[in-house]
Amino acid sequence: MEIVLRVVFFVSFLYFGFVRGGDYNVLDFGAKGDGETDDSKAFVKAWKTMCGDDDGNTKTLLIPSGQTFLLQSLQFHGPCGSSSVVQMNGNIVAPVDKRAWLDNKTPNWIVFVSINGLTIIGVGTINGFGSSFWEETIDKRPTALEFRNCNNLNISGITSIDSPRNHISINNCDKVMISNIQLFAPEKSPNTDGINISFSTNVSISNSIIGTGDDCIALKTGSVNINITEVVCGPGHGISIGSLGDNGQKAKVQNVHVTHSTFNKTTNGARIKTWQGGEGYAKHIYFEHITIIDAMNPIIIDQQYKDKGRHGLESKKNSADVAISNVKFIDFRGTTSNEKIITLNCSKIKPCKNIVLNDINITTMNGEKSTIDCSSVVGNSDSSVVTADCFKI
Ligand SMILES: *[C@@H]1O[C@H](CO)[C@@H](O)[C@H](O)[C@H]1NC(C)=O
Ligand SMILES: *[C@@H]1O[C@H](CO)[C@@H](O)[C@H](O)[C@H]1NC(C)=O
Ligand SMILES: *[C@@H]1O[C@H](CO)[C@@H](O)[C@H](O)[C@H]1NC(C)=O
Ligand SMILES: *[C@@H]1O[C@H](CO)[C@@H](O)[C@H](O)[C@H]1NC(C)=O
Ligand SMILES: *[C@@H]1O[C@H](CO)[C@@H](O)[C@H](O)[C@H]1NC(C)=O
Ligand SMILES: *[C@@H]1O[C@H](CO)[C@@H](O)[C@H](O)[C@H]1NC(C)=O
Ligand SMILES: *[C@@H]1O[C@H](CO)[C@@H](O)[C@H](O)[C@H]1NC(C)=O
Repeated sequence: MEIVLRVVFFVSFLYFGFVRGGDYNVLDFGAKGDGETDDSKAFVKAWKTMCGDDDGNTKTLLIPSGQTFLLQSLQFHGPCGSSSVVQMNGNIVAPVDKRAWLDNKTPNWIVFVSINGLTIIGVGTINGFGSSFWEETIDKRPTALEFRNCNNLNISGITSIDSPRNHISINNCDKVMISNIQLFAPEKSPNTDGINISFSTNVSISNSIIGTGDDCIALKTGSVNINITEVVCGPGHGISIGSLGDNGQKAKVQNVHVTHSTFNKTTNGARIKTWQGGEGYAKHIYFEHITIIDAMNPIIIDQQYKDKGRHGLESKKNSADVAISNVKFIDFRGTTSNEKIITLNCSKIKPCKNIVLNDINITTMNGEKSTIDCSSVVGNSDSSVVTADCFKI
């Protein structure tokens, strides 16, 4: 009798214990949450079980609060039977030293692939302990969170610090909402972009704080319909479109709205950078209602972008360029730490067209006269700081 009862108890635990109220708690799949044990297998097992459950109701992977889970590189794979939520109340850490990372097939740390309907929400922190990677070359450094081939992705509340490379990379996704997140890495950490977007459509990023060693947000080719609002960026290299046209690539970026955002002690503010010898376009790009706090290069278009160790396509260097058109910089105010408030360094082959600079009130920190630099720009401005000869080509 007792044995029967025990069996019944055990079976019902298997049945109901794992899935409390639709939650798949990683602790029930063997995760320790002590910050030292490798919990990767438990996370993947919890995910697979949840993902395979296809009754159509939204499922939640629960990362409980008050605990820290050590994860090696891993992938959460879709498609899943239902929409998924990752409730991130607890914290996630990488091994503190790069030598403790196991060999893995994916170059990135936590990767979400082919998932339709995913929400990541919670107050948890992800710490990539990236500093031991920062002297490595870029291709040996993993991105903390990568999202590939996804639809309907929501990310909210979480914090990511010290990623070995980019904090969040969004590639080939449609309908992405990112809000109330925090991304931090030291000013001097290399390539620690906050959010890197490529081949993705209908993305909104709002109410977030990003301070890293590289671009706060980088929009690469294939970024279409992107809204960025109420983002505080700094330190970092600003919000960048590009770089585009690397190695003769055909770029395609359009419909980008960056509004009500702040650049705080960044090395650039609103930036578009393209390589010589590229093709394609960057068009319909608006930066509006921007606050500049002691930042360098608040407004910059550079169609002659160069980066050490990389190059444009030499053979096409004098015959092609990414076309830049319909770009508006409206209502910029604040202070710059260098005297150059506007740099529009456009291409002789493909001048920048329909560039509008309105309501620009940026002053230098020390009260010195500010300067602007224009070449090959067609456009107009209502601001007295932008003289008419900026648009002489
Ligand atoms: C994402 O969030 C928005 C607004 O909160 C909501 O309408 C949408 O259904 C969410 N998407 C998913 C996949 O949960
Ligand atoms: C941006 O993300 C894409 C896709 O994940 C990646 O291939 C690319 O190398 C990233 N760029 C940088 C500068 O990290
Ligand atoms: C993006 O949003 C637009 C407008 O809502 C919609 O027409 C389009 O299908 C969406 N997806 C892509 C891939 O453009
Ligand atoms: C971007 O903002 C515009 C204007 O508010 C809105 O019509 C559009 O739907 C937004 N797109 C996304 C992807 O949030
Ligand atoms: C700008 O950054 C400094 C630190 O460098 C910080 O103290 C200040 O609060 C920030 N300002 C805003 C408006 O975020
Ligand atoms: C520009 O900003 C400064 C500082 O906020 C302010 O004193 C000045 O009146 C502004 N100028 C214009 C033309 O708005
Ligand atoms: C534009 O870029 C070229 C190539 O990097 C450089 O030589 C030139 O000085 C730049 N012009 C301005 C106005 O910044």
